[in-house]
Amino acid sequence: MRSRERSDMITWLLIILLIILAFLFSIIFPFPLFGAPFDFSRDEAIRNIVKLTAPKNGDKIAELGSGDGRVCIALARKNPKTKIYGFEINPILVVLSKINVNKAGFEKQIKIKWKNFWFADFGKFNKIVMFQFDNVMSRIEKKFDKELKKDSLIISHHWKLPHWKIVRSLGKEHISYGKVHLYKR
Ligand SMILES: C[S@@+](CC[C@H](N)C(=O)[O-])C[C@H]1O[C@@H](n2cnc3c(N)ncnc32)[C@H](O)[C@@H]1O
Repeated sequence: MRSRERSDMITWLLIILLIILAFLFSIIFPFPLFGAPFDFSRDEAIRNIVKLTAPKNGDKIAELGSGDGRVCIALARKNPKTKIYGFEINPILVVLSKINVNKAGFEKQIKIKWKNFWFADFGKFNKIVMFQFDNVMSRIEKKFDKELKKDSLIISHHWKLPHWKIVRSLGKEHISYGKVHLYKR
């Protein structure tokens, strides 16, 4: 191979490597393209999420960005006659949360999916739980308007939907976490 061809090939390999790295980076640190980066709901917030979600028999609950799976597990523990679906974009957290779900013994009740929630159909869920970020809220509100059935509940940790009216809030305000808000479609 001539040296010119070799240097062209190296340039193309570097470009492909950069594209792969950028893709992996955007999955592991999804902000600002897809949603919030990983942060975890503290114990008090999880208790309030469970209170406001109030899991009932037959509920289909989706968590958007299910992180390490602790919120899904707390919801499942509250009522075994529910189905919980966690959508998570970060493959490392998907593996970790599946391990946590299995350890806790909820693998039949909780399904963790490696999926970008922007591509999920929310229509089959009657409750949505989320701890996302400011940039997500107005976009996701439009998706809720389009896809959610009447009387569906949204439980959002910290961040507020710009146009929907809060039904109830629990917890203490902090700069980036703490209070949990309940909305009804
Ligand atoms: C602030 S953390 C919340 C984690 C967990 N729900 C909790 O309350 O402890 C946000 C999570 O959303 C995930 N995420 C961000 N954008 C996403 C997307 N478009 N689809 C699926 N998961 C996403 C992140 O990887 C992260 O795990």
